[in-house]
Amino acid sequence: MQDPHQPTGRPLLATADTALAEELTRLSAAAGAAVAVASSPPEVLGAWSTAPVVLVGADLVPLLVELAPPRRPGVQVVSWSPAPPGAFRDALLVGAERVVELPVGAELVAELLTDLDEVGRGEGVLVGVVGGSGGAGATTLACGLGQVAAVSGPTLVVDLDPLGPGCDRVLALDEAAGVRWDSLGTASGRLSGRSLREAVPRREGLGVLGWSSTPAPLDAGAVREALSAARRGHETVVVDLPRSGELVAETVARCALVVVVVVPTLTGVAAAARWLGTLPDPARVGLVVRGHHVDPQRVAALVGAPVLVTMADQRGLAEALDLGLGPVRSRRGPLARAARELLAAVTAPVRAA
Ligand SMILES: Nc1ncnc2c1ncn2[C@@H]1O[C@H](COP(=O)(O)OP(=O)(O)O)[C@@H](O)[C@H]1O
Ligand SMILES: [Mg+2]
Repeated sequence: MQDPHQPTGRPLLATADTALAEELTRLSAAAGAAVAVASSPPEVLGAWSTAPVVLVGADLVPLLVELAPPRRPGVQVVSWSPAPPGAFRDALLVGAERVVELPVGAELVAELLTDLDEVGRGEGVLVGVVGGSGGAGATTLACGLGQVAAVSGPTLVVDLDPLGPGCDRVLALDEAAGVRWDSLGTASGRLSGRSLREAVPRREGLGVLGWSSTPAPLDAGAVREALSAARRGHETVVVDLPRSGELVAETVARCALVVVVVVPTLTGVAAAARWLGTLPDPARVGLVVRGHHVDPQRVAALVGAPVLVTMADQRGLAEALDLGLGPVRSRRGPLARAARELLAAVTAPVRAA
């Protein structure tokens, strides 16, 4: 996935201090970033503008100050602790963002290098899915959306419903190793998009953030942090929302689109209308009606939101799940078609950005 806005060069390590160069190379390797090392000012200037990040050793900063390279973002001065007295002033003069002192700042360096592939990529689109009534098919659609979105780019299905069947189970990733909510609930600090993407259970382009076998209540801060990292590390993030609970309104507010799955019966429509009534701002809500012979206009009028897609039942769903194929086993089924239409509606302006 190439992004035209992404800087093309490697991160630049500018230092003549061998021990510092070794330590920074080691940190880069651990972060999975291939770096270029420059030990003289002319070499540094050669790569200065194309490197996505520049780490300048405190030893070379005074020389660089004299050369006055053009200002650019993403410059850090790195020094063994304690930094020499002039380092902070010199850092300011070359337009560095900060002085990182090692070894304490090692984690910060690793994080800067880890987030590199996210620089300039823009955030992925967040789509929420909720059942207008219990058992309407929200979890199934959320997982199906994930499968279809994963064909075009990294995708994460985030399971926020502790009482559902488990998106990981629906996607046959319940036995896969990886991070689940229980281990993120206690995460502190900024979670990098890439580390979340690489930590969750995943099959090719599709990952899932699900629950451990004994779900515990989620901390709102942890959810916010996880969704933010999810968007930095994926093109599409689909959230399977519970119908109620503290996290619903806040998460809904972050979604580009919230899809409400409606069963077009008297009770299905009434419950969906009631759910919409709990939202402070139902502007980004669209309906997916599950059933045949439905008048979409009538459902839209009764529920109070536009119908985006009407879909017939997916045949062989239970069998597909039993086989570990996820809800979308064929590109031609009604679920796949509905998912494509929904994604096209929500991602077109975002992908073009
Ligand atoms: N598109 C669909 N076609 C056929 N059956 C479906 C569909 N979506 C859901 N179901 C069935 O309805 C039941 C509830 O689905 P689920 O996705 O768990 O609903 P919810 O998350 O809204 O409670 C499941 O048994 C599932 O197999
Ligand atoms: Mg569900």
